Amino acid sequence: MAVRSCQTQIGSVAGQQVTTIEGLGGDHRVQRAWMALDVPQCGYCQPGQMMSASALLAMNKNPSDQDIDAFMSGNICRCGTYPRIRAAIKAAAKMS
Ligand code: FES
Repeated sequence: MAVRSCQTQIGSVAGQQVTTIEGLGGDHRVQRAWMALDVPQCGYCQPGQMMSASALLAMNKNPSDQDIDAFMSGNICRCGTYPRIRAAIKAAAKMS
């Protein structure tokens, strides 16, 4: 489950496993798809975008455009990289 770290108090996750962008390991399919499609512009929102994408793909192995838009709607990108984010999620869904 993806949560926003800026809105999550540390005490609320005490004793639970927490995975950050570093925890994806650098070779996660979402990271590979992001690099292949040059998704980031300024990069500010991208860790959150990738963590949400990872959570989406963990629940839905082949998300539709509507699934992606609904799930990712809370992640704002001021640079407007949404079309590349959607394409990268679809590319990641096809990777193992
Ligand atoms: S890449 Fe700049 S805010 Fe998303």
